[in-house]
Amino acid sequence: MATPHNEAKKGDFAKTVLMPGDPLRAKFVAENFLEDVKCVNTVRNCLGFTGTYKGVPVSVMASGMGMPSIGIYSYELYAFYDVENIIRIGSAGSYTDKLNVLDVVISESAYSDSTFAKYTNGVEEKTLYPSKKINDIAIAKAKELGIDAKVAKVHSADQFYTAPEMGGWQAVKERCQCDCVEMESFALFNNANMLGKNATCMLTISDSFVTSEEIPAEDRQKSFTEMMKLALETAIA
Ligand code: HPA
Repeated sequence: MATPHNEAKKGDFAKTVLMPGDPLRAKFVAENFLEDVKCVNTVRNCLGFTGTYKGVPVSVMASGMGMPSIGIYSYELYAFYDVENIIRIGSAGSYTDKLNVLDVVISESAYSDSTFAKYTNGVEEKTLYPSKKINDIAIAKAKELGIDAKVAKVHSADQFYTAPEMGGWQAVKERCQCDCVEMESFALFNNANMLGKNATCMLTISDSFVTSEEIPAEDRQKSFTEMMKLALETAIA
């Protein structure tokens, strides 16, 4: 069985899939953190891999950028490949001096102005939540591993670039009352809720609107080791 966007066969994915946005990050995680790795999807270069971590099957597949993209890939993993858990591992920009570059975040909620949920399954809420079960495991694992993960409110934006007359990041923060911004979690949480599955999101702060600090592009892919460890330990718990 295949979908328009995924050539994997039924059974090719593990019950738990880690989802970075970037296909090369998916490859990096597979090559550096998993054993006995098999590439299961190459369609549109949205690479997917299945291997084992400490002997337990785990998959990693890219989501692409934005809610339409993660909406497609997560829907297909849940609905057609019997995936039960998706852990997004992404990056975010910080709206607060309490979240600094390289900090690890576990999502408390995802706020969005997107109509994704409204027109996917009639959900009008602007704030959606991750699965409590996985989040509680992630928070406990962070403590166990000595990772100072911050539980934070995530803004899932449809825009990366906005015109100056929109009032800048301060106006956005005022509207959404969130701690950091990315572009995918809201759609992922909606799909998990709709299909009776589990999802959460872990983020590394890659840039700060407050201090203008950012991780150089060439360091981004490799600077997520702490979060990946947390995601993998959560995946096999
Ligand atoms: N905006 C949206 N998504 C992001 C950002 C940002 O500033 N940084 C990392 N992901």
